[in-house]
Amino acid sequence: MKKVAIAIDGPAAAGKSTVAKLIAKQMGYTYIDTGAMYRAYTWYCMEKGVDCTNHDACVPFVNEVNIVLKPNNVVLCNGIDVTKQIRETRVSANVSYIASYKEVRLFLVDQQRKMAENDSVVMDGRDIGTYVLPNAEVKIFQIASVETRAKRRYDENMEKGILCTLAEIEEDVRKRDYIDSHREFAPLKKANDAIELDTSYMNVEEVVNAIIKIINGKIGK
Ligand code: CDP
Repeated sequence: MKKVAIAIDGPAAAGKSTVAKLIAKQMGYTYIDTGAMYRAYTWYCMEKGVDCTNHDACVPFVNEVNIVLKPNNVVLCNGIDVTKQIRETRVSANVSYIASYKEVRLFLVDQQRKMAENDSVVMDGRDIGTYVLPNAEVKIFQIASVETRAKRRYDENMEKGILCTLAEIEEDVRKRDYIDSHREFAPLKKANDAIELDTSYMNVEEVVNAIIKIINGKIGK
């Protein structure tokens, strides 16, 4: 069977990981959550007590950070299970600074590309279609209004028991989108050959079905 790569990009809390996981399951592909890798790196910097806005203090950790994405969506950072911690509000508030550092991106992108070398993958992030996997067979750019995205993330956090307010989430989403789309290296941007999907008024099942239809159309099923 031919190896296939599906790239799902888009702004914060657009629901990419929820649908990417379901699509991977349905297609029998490996799901790769690149955002979790930037989050784990951020968690590590915070554990070390450094200021995440300080490029020079954060970048050297590329030499000591080891991030592993387990098949069951568990995230390990230097052997520590950080699956829950990386979703905390304090990590979200700092991750876009870390993700703007070129050295950190090169370090993580290298690993992401390796993960996609041997398996069919569904990879979600900000720069997958434009930079990480420019030859992906299918590229989706998943968007939704800021209000919808903030509400989705708020509900998700409530379910996971992560403390936050809706206003705080909306501010975080706006701020991350700004930093992510204005950074110099591999910013959040729709690839020229990506299909944009506005999911503001779609439920998870509708989004999954729409993307599966696109995949089957592209890979000729
Ligand atoms: O909160 P959400 O699920 O939307 O974000 P995420 O996918 O967990 O990504 C967290 C942050 O990591 C983003 O806001 C970006 O700053 C950064 N990121 C990135 O720069 N490039 C990627 N491929 C994935 C995430």
